[in-house]
Amino acid sequence: MVLLRSLAMCGLLVISSIANATSSYVKDEAIFYSDSSKATKLGDLHYATPINVEEQKGEFSKVTLQGWISQGAEEVVYSDVGVVLELALMTKDGMKQFKENATKTDDYKVKWTNITVTGWIESKYIMPSISQDWKELKILFSQRCSACHTAPEVGHVDINAWPSLLDAMSERAGLSKQEENKILKYLQFNTPKSH
Ligand code: HEC
Repeated sequence: MVLLRSLAMCGLLVISSIANATSSYVKDEAIFYSDSSKATKLGDLHYATPINVEEQKGEFSKVTLQGWISQGAEEVVYSDVGVVLELALMTKDGMKQFKENATKTDDYKVKWTNITVTGWIESKYIMPSISQDWKELKILFSQRCSACHTAPEVGHVDINAWPSLLDAMSERAGLSKQEENKILKYLQFNTPKSH
């Protein structure tokens, strides 16, 4: 506390703005706007996407998204290089707002760029924690996917194999599109890093 106060007294604006940003998650699917008057749509932020909340103004909050885009498909923001875990789908206006941080080239010689983009979403789409959702989705997954065979482990397949595998199984399991999407995010965000 003493340290924090003395830092604040130094007037270090940068430190205080970092300290004020809180990491949170997107609830459902949130429209990402350029400002709180909804003037320009920057894109859609997907369920469970981690975001930094910079400030709140009425019913809107200013948030920052960080992720990776790949050359030739810059509208999709992914969680990591070569990982098909989609965080957001951007509009042309949204892509213009990208701040580029770093680049990497993957094994297939595709260039990836780490970007951050700041905009506004309705505050009701912000969750401070996602652990309760993961608990509920774990139950839904084990109930719906154990009717015909034992439900597979979260790390049963590679993070990139879940989208097509789940797509093939979701009709059998009677999952709605929304349940399938949430379970996909549960599986991908919780796949052990060794994969
Ligand atoms: C109505 C029965 C049924 C339900 C419900 C079901 N499955 Fe399956 N699953 C099968 C059958 C049958 C196979 C054998 C392979 C095939 O026919 O595609 C299989 C195979 C699999 C495999 C092995 C194939 C592979 O490529 O590794 C996985 C993993 C799997 N299911 C995951 C799931 C998940 C996840 C769910 C829940 C969303 C689920 N299953 C729900 C019937 C079902």
